[in-house]
Amino acid sequence: MIFDALHDSAKRGELLLIDGGFCHWHLRRDGQLTIREIIATRKGAGSAMLARLLCVPGAESILAKCPCDLDANAWYARRGFELERVEVTPSGRTLNVWRRRCLSTVPVEEVDSQKSPSPRASSTAVVAITSHHILWGLPT
Ligand SMILES: CC(C)(COP(=O)(O)OP(=O)(O)OC[C@H]1O[C@@H](n2cnc3c(N)ncnc32)[C@H](O)[C@@H]1OP(=O)(O)O)[C@@H](O)C(=O)NCCC(=O)NCCS
Repeated sequence: MIFDALHDSAKRGELLLIDGGFCHWHLRRDGQLTIREIIATRKGAGSAMLARLLCVPGAESILAKCPCDLDANAWYARRGFELERVEVTPSGRTLNVWRRRCLSTVPVEEVDSQKSPSPRASSTAVVAITSHHILWGLPT
């Protein structure tokens, strides 16, 4: 089942693979980009992927649900996400719901004060997987 979900996402261009990083995401029609899974095996890869997500056309905010016991919560806070609410799953697990506005929706004066790297500063090669082929490219 996970393969079906990943395959569908790949066909929509919603898988991000970089050196040392993987992110599975979905852009809703209302402009919310949801991070479904994100994992980095190299320091800095998480921020590089976030920089890419912030530039996705049509994305107005990025939302992630992170189990409250994970260290990754500190990363979301450090990277400018705000804790929007806390949810409890049917199985009893507590999730922190983090949201960050995309740069296009942030007032100019707030952009200057944000500490995460500029999307255009990243030179990380990005792979976009489609159902039939792999495209290599560099961020513009
Ligand atoms: C969360 C994750 C994607 C971050 O990616 P990363 O490449 O390690 O993070 P970056 O190097 O881009 O960012 C590091 C910055 O965040 C801060 N930070 C705080 N808590 C952190 C944490 N638990 N992990 C990584 N960085 C953290 C660091 O201090 C650093 O700040 P600085 O740049 O000001 O020094 C990565 O740690 C990971 O894959 N975690 C395991 C999987 C996971 O939990 N995913 C999220 C599930 S909701």
